[in-house]
Amino acid sequence: VGAREVTAAVARFYDELPFNFQDAERAAAGVRDRNQVAESYPDLDDRLASARTVLDVGCGAGWLSNTCAYHYGVEVRGIDLSRTAVERAREVSELLGVEDATEFRRADLFETALGGRHDVVVSLGVLHHTPDLPGALARLPGWVSERGCVYVGLYHAPSRRPFLACFERYRRLLREGRLTERDAEEAFARYRELDDRTDDSTLARSWFRDQVLHPHETQHTLREVAALLAGHGFAVVSTSINRFAPFERVEDLFELEEAQEEHAQRRLAEGSYLPGFFTVLAERV
Ligand SMILES: C[S@@+](CC[C@H](N)C(=O)[O-])C[C@H]1O[C@@H](n2cnc3c(N)ncnc32)[C@H](O)[C@@H]1O
Repeated sequence: VGAREVTAAVARFYDELPFNFQDAERAAAGVRDRNQVAESYPDLDDRLASARTVLDVGCGAGWLSNTCAYHYGVEVRGIDLSRTAVERAREVSELLGVEDATEFRRADLFETALGGRHDVVVSLGVLHHTPDLPGALARLPGWVSERGCVYVGLYHAPSRRPFLACFERYRRLLREGRLTERDAEEAFARYRELDDRTDDSTLARSWFRDQVLHPHETQHTLREVAALLAGHGFAVVSTSINRFAPFERVEDLFELEEAQEEHAQRRLAEGSYLPGFFTVLAERV
């Protein structure tokens, strides 16, 4: 399957139902009532506190872009392949009253010519759904201001392996075009045993199909991403791999990340939801 076909399939997938999709009023309340960046990404929280502009690459239905505008008062541009997602992001920003600080556009990150540089260029859960992770990552440095940073969240190969293994039967049937409605319902029930964070059924479905029935995903490591970023003159300064703790050399974390497969396996066996995701914050050397 060629790159164009992958991108077209991913766009169709998200136009049908974007990730993190729920009723606009609920989505707005979710942003208003909780700052999920501060809760989950302390290093990003810290950068946003002193940022003026943010570019959200693959902004989806806009929870992050709108959080940046609402809680940090920054100017945000969000781009995404999916028209449905972009429209929802815009709608939520209007409900929050931050529409003047946000601009959402339907665009393919590989093709768009974005003028301007941004203090934070963030992309959560996006680049591993493109046909070319190194190529996608290579786009980001050109959009970052001199003292700005890149922040990416990706599937983590070691800690995602157990989760994928758990759903392999369904994923194989999907690849072979043989997944029945009944299989999908069975997979959804299994997923809900692990992830009962919400009682909103649309939101739960949008997470489930993203995690289990996606047409295209790849998985990565800190080792790989650190090397790719180094090639663009960027160094990793913080990562979720060691829970955002300070470190001297990024190489010292590579052993730790490999050991995370076993940890994920154990947690999954205990019934915890562990989809296998990591983040990296990098800045110019
Ligand atoms: C898992 S969702 C994450 C959305 C959002 N970042 C979030 O955290 O909710 C992945 C998003 O990446 C977008 N995407 C995938 N490939 C893209 C591309 N080539 N250009 C722009 N957006 C893309 C999809 O349309 C989708 O909305």
